[in-house]
Amino acid sequence: MTRRRQHVPWKAAGTASETEHSADDVVRETGWVFNNVTGSELSLAEFVATGDNETVAYLEAFGVLSPDAERQTMVEIGSGIGRMTASFSRLFAKVIACDLDAAFLERCRETVAQFGRPERLQTSHVADGRTLGLPDSSAELVFSYITLQHCHHDDGIALSREAVRVAKPGGCIALNFRTWVPQDVVLWPAGKVVRASWRLPRLGPVIAQRRLPARLGWQANRLTPKEVLATIGSSLDDVRIFRGPTRRGFGLPGTTDRTFEGVHRSHWWVVATVK
Ligand SMILES: C[S@@+](CC[C@H](N)C(=O)[O-])C[C@H]1O[C@@H](n2cnc3c(N)ncnc32)[C@H](O)[C@@H]1O
Repeated sequence: MTRRRQHVPWKAAGTASETEHSADDVVRETGWVFNNVTGSELSLAEFVATGDNETVAYLEAFGVLSPDAERQTMVEIGSGIGRMTASFSRLFAKVIACDLDAAFLERCRETVAQFGRPERLQTSHVADGRTLGLPDSSAELVFSYITLQHCHHDDGIALSREAVRVAKPGGCIALNFRTWVPQDVVLWPAGKVVRASWRLPRLGPVIAQRRLPARLGWQANRLTPKEVLATIGSSLDDVRIFRGPTRRGFGLPGTTDRTFEGVHRSHWWVVATVK
């Protein structure tokens, strides 16, 4: 199996999450890798509440929350410890949470057991970081948030293809990516240096668990709508590209330009129906 540098901080956080006694301790130690919030008083309940707000906001803005959701299956690529998964399990009949790190998936089950509908949850380990262990046409919705930007470029593309493969014909994908911003003149080379440092014997694992270098190093690719749609566009209908209102439109022929204030300036989403 390919050993990607990009996997290092997630494996390090996953291993850290395994050693904590309570779910609240997991949030205090590793919660920052998901929603950038730190503090010694953080609790799992507060962590999950941030996900509750975001799931419904995104699904409604994208028009992918069907009145039939209670009878539908959704796949979440990059669930982490279940910040959004608990909410998804209350909305959909079945949720398949997929993640690179098996320990996160174990914690995700605990989170959903406390705050969601555990009987609706299935987990799926993305062992190679690029292949979903799910059959074709498994779900009405495939969703991914702040995950594809953390993958090796080729794995981000591979997982986009996988999202299309596991969505049912007539189902939807809603995938979040990161693209270029002017600050990348500094951020991109700094990130490369950090990712190289993660391979250093002994020191690497320590650096990988530090918040500042991790944040610089883990945004491992920049993908544009043009590049992603060159791969999956022919399998899609009604392609909408969502961006933040302060960013200029991508102007990609065959797509509809949409804005949503919840989208970060460096992010964009492809929301589309699978043919
Ligand atoms: C920033 S977290 C986001 C988690 C969740 N979407 C949320 O918003 O709380 C990114 C997640 O993606 C997972 N991840 C990173 N690379 C991955 C890959 N190649 N395949 C699957 N999951 C991956 C990490 O383990 C981590 O749980």
